[in-house]
Amino acid sequence: MKSHFYLDPEIVFLNHGSFGAVPKVVYADLWHWQKKMEMDSVQFLENVFPLLAKSRRVLGEFVGCNCDDLVYCPNPTHAVNAVARSLDLKPGEEVLSTNHIYGALDYTWSHICSEKGAKFIKAEIPLPISSNEEFLDIFLNGCNERTKLIFISHLTSMTACRFPIEEIMTFAHERGISVFIDGAHIPGHFPLEISELNPDFYTGACHKWMCAPKGTSFLYVKKELQNKIDPPVISWGWKTDLSDGSRFLNKHEWQGTRDMTPFLTVPSAISFMQENDWESHAEVNRNLVRETRRQILDITGTKAICPDSWLGQMASIPLPISDAQNFKRQLRDKYKIQVPVFEWEGENYLRFSFHLYNTEEDAQRLIEAIRQLQS
Ligand SMILES: Cc1ncc(COP(=O)(O)O)c(C=O)c1O
Repeated sequence: MKSHFYLDPEIVFLNHGSFGAVPKVVYADLWHWQKKMEMDSVQFLENVFPLLAKSRRVLGEFVGCNCDDLVYCPNPTHAVNAVARSLDLKPGEEVLSTNHIYGALDYTWSHICSEKGAKFIKAEIPLPISSNEEFLDIFLNGCNERTKLIFISHLTSMTACRFPIEEIMTFAHERGISVFIDGAHIPGHFPLEISELNPDFYTGACHKWMCAPKGTSFLYVKKELQNKIDPPVISWGWKTDLSDGSRFLNKHEWQGTRDMTPFLTVPSAISFMQENDWESHAEVNRNLVRETRRQILDITGTKAICPDSWLGQMASIPLPISDAQNFKRQLRDKYKIQVPVFEWEGENYLRFSFHLYNTEEDAQRLIEAIRQLQS
């Protein structure tokens, strides 16, 4: 499958989790829209909203929600900022998350909560963690009558753990607590039915596991809350009827002059997945992730940080090393492996991702490199 991508053939690319690789056919589609725009940019941008609506329809079907309840945005951070700034958080109210929150969004919530006099609470989820019950015991203990919102990663960034989101949703629904799910890593990685989960807000990145071009993400907002959520940038869509959709779509879709073409490629990214038997590849990769984790842990002597059932096509492993940057550099320069190695909460970790262009040989190359570097 690697020939479907522009990936450097010399490099074993194991960092799809940070920035996905884009298939050539999806790039061709991007180029098609870019050319169309350059042929008459005025005409193109004046007529871009029906094209966006068409693309949203395909995305809505893929992520399981009404397409008019989601808007395109460049990245999940943008989506979270829109919601965090709009929420009517009062002094003393609390937003509950975990210490596994994506770093940039930790900054967002800390800043917004302190501006509004609210409290940002990060439940400490220790590692290793062995079960849903252990997680829920700790996390849900952080909820109380002041909890206004739960902000939770569906699958965490640094630790690559898929949290028990269904159970969290049940708990929150029973108590009337709002939930914002950060699903940056979910679309294209796990089947997603937003309407079934029924959160208040959901954001996902199409440019990660769905392989759309960078700068393609979305924000879902439950219908009854859409009037309350403003975009970070107030532009023409604030007052003008730009599409035949709702005010929610208008105000979020026109954010000044910007390149809409990556959003238009989402249907071709979804077709690429469907035409290439995505699900079977995902299953093979999930098994390869588990087996690779097992073999690396045998070498490092460190502990699995979460149960196998929490893993997708990505896993983080604690490494008994003192210099993460040096280890990463050696993997890149000496073994031609692109993989993140980083410090998180005082420990060093390696996080590898397998996508449909990766092979068992790639996994073996990583295992062998770690064996040599650890000896
Ligand atoms: C869990 C999680 N949330 C949010 C993001 C947001 O990414 P960005 O910095 O592109 O907004 C990421 C990116 O890797 C992520 O892993």
